[in-house]
Amino acid sequence: MRLKDRVAVVTGGGGGIGRAAALRLAEDGAAVVVADIRTEAGEETVARIREAGGRAVFVSVDTAVREQVFSMVDEAVRAFGRIDILFNNAGVGTRALYTLLELPEEEYQRVIGINQHGVFYGIQAGARAMKDRGGVIINTASVYGFVADRRQFAYHASKAAVAMMTKAAALELARYNIRVVAIAPGLIDTGIVSGWKEDPRIWSAVEQAQMRRRAGTPEEVANVVAFLASDEASFVNGSVVFVDDGAASFKR
Ligand SMILES: NC(=O)c1ccc[n+]([C@@H]2O[C@H](COP(=O)([O-])OP(=O)(O)OC[C@H]3O[C@@H](n4cnc5c(N)ncnc54)[C@H](O)[C@@H]3O)[C@@H](O)[C@H]2O)c1
Repeated sequence: MRLKDRVAVVTGGGGGIGRAAALRLAEDGAAVVVADIRTEAGEETVARIREAGGRAVFVSVDTAVREQVFSMVDEAVRAFGRIDILFNNAGVGTRALYTLLELPEEEYQRVIGINQHGVFYGIQAGARAMKDRGGVIINTASVYGFVADRRQFAYHASKAAVAMMTKAAALELARYNIRVVAIAPGLIDTGIVSGWKEDPRIWSAVEQAQMRRRAGTPEEVANVVAFLASDEASFVNGSVVFVDDGAASFKR
């Protein structure tokens, strides 16, 4: 139980990578605060953790709203006494694959608000709660923070920001013994990409972007998150760990 007695907060814990990570962190012994904008989905994750004998509570949050992120952290501290691990994972894709020339300002702001500003609020709120004892903050970036595709402008901007915020935060928070790292997943089979799955041609084209031509599972990402959250990763700091079957490392 490498995370025994640790307290973890997972945003976007109601589905996909966040749910798998919440389950995995609980399996490793952490008490988990499952935070999501979707109450039913988040409660379902909590129920699964409890069924498996773990400790978890649900907190409702819209990570794009600063006060809600700070309240989430306060509620986590109230529930379990402190926070050791914060996984800033909640994120969205664009509602439609807009070209840059057509991308509505409102859609750009929505994606940046959740994916970028939400992570900033999380880092700040989490670090304030961790600064006396140390801790680990893990942010979900993406291969798309490093490699450009068409019609993904806002998403690219938001995920590149997550990668750089991770490095800057790690440098500033080192004095408090808070590690800050990011993961950059490639294509992972979750709700965020379910629209692509409806068209087998699109799905098989995006699968080709991984070296072994398949999507990853949320559990394959959760394994890395649990490692990064643990003391086994005690010298990993300020870096982005790609969980992408090489997607960011070769020319298609
Ligand atoms: N699936 C992929 O291929 C992939 C690749 C790279 C990065 N990512 C990133 O992984 C993260 C998790 O996504 P996923 O793939 O598990 O998708 P998902 O849609 O299954 O899960 C995202 C979760 O975040 C929640 N959420 C969305 N907006 C929120 C908000 N404003 N406040 C609180 N919760 C909110 C959703 O309700 C959902 O439970 C995202 O940051 C995403 O950008 C995913």
